[in-house]
Amino acid sequence: MREKLLEIKENALALLEKCFDEKALCEIKVKYLGKQGELTSVLRGMRDVSQADRPKIGALVNDVRNAIETRVNELANKFAEAELNRKLQSEKIDITLPGLQVKSGTPSILEKLVEEVEEVFMSMGYDVVDGPEVEEDKFNFEMLNIPKGHPARDAQDTFYIEDEKVLLRSQTSPVQVRTMLAAGGNKPVRMICPGKTYRRDSDDATHSHQFMQIEGLVVDRIDRNISMSNLKGTLETLFKKILDDKTQVRFRPSYYQFTEPSVEVDVTCCSCKGKGCSMCKNTGWLTVCGAGIVHPNVLRNCGYDPNEWSGFAFGFGAERIAMVKYGMTDIRKLDNQTDLRETAAFDRREG
Ligand code: DAH
Repeated sequence: MREKLLEIKENALALLEKCFDEKALCEIKVKYLGKQGELTSVLRGMRDVSQADRPKIGALVNDVRNAIETRVNELANKFAEAELNRKLQSEKIDITLPGLQVKSGTPSILEKLVEEVEEVFMSMGYDVVDGPEVEEDKFNFEMLNIPKGHPARDAQDTFYIEDEKVLLRSQTSPVQVRTMLAAGGNKPVRMICPGKTYRRDSDDATHSHQFMQIEGLVVDRIDRNISMSNLKGTLETLFKKILDDKTQVRFRPSYYQFTEPSVEVDVTCCSCKGKGCSMCKNTGWLTVCGAGIVHPNVLRNCGYDPNEWSGFAFGFGAERIAMVKYGMTDIRKLDNQTDLRETAAFDRREG
């Protein structure tokens, strides 16, 4: 019996020495310490041991069991610790790794441009005002000195909504009328109005049936002598700020019903800085704006006495300025900009 117990101990410890995982450990535990295990079956033979030998054998049995149990527990702890370390290792978060970058959009080029223009004018004391996109013919044309049947209407092929009375505004100039009427004919006006406008144009690289105009109007008492040079200085300040501080501005005589005299405004080409390139058709200049001295009829229609008040007005397309600024050749890109890489490229260009 004694030999048997020592043999069990020896075998068990030898097996445990070669045990490297939890599953094998479990099997050894069952094999030696389990209910059907070898040690238990040896114990059943105790009844055959003489009374005198029993205490000794009993002590030996305990010793063998303790030896095996201690080793089993040691290994179980070792395996548990190894498993924990393995988990910690695999679940470790390296906080120094760069995070996943979620790309967010940026404001559209047009939106940014309008904001820049607003800032320039606000810094010069202008109000930024709004007007309706669904407009009356009266405000869009008639009060601006463009009566029904006048050929000047042909240049702005208009979307009419109700007979000949209600339309989608074809320019932001009606906001001049609304602003002067609201001011009641006796207060100076200094405002810009950015907003959507609509014309029945077929969309192509340079035309869009919907576009953004920015209108400007200054009206003040006659003794303030508002002149073409004020207009030129104002537009020069604007274009130097939003295009390039070396930009030059020139006026060419033109014709609008609501201004007299009227001018078209050119800026030096942003792409070639005035040297001449395909963008400016080798002239060095790009036309960007219409402007002039407010026509006495318009002042009168809007409640201002032209003997007491005078002013200047201007209007330009935001898309045109954006294209000039970024050297774009297709206006449609401004509305259909879905490629974030391109938007990012514009952000970079802007510095
Ligand atoms: N409304 C004109 C257009 O759409 C642009 C314009 C020209 C506005 C001269 C003005 C102006 O206020 O004075 O073509």
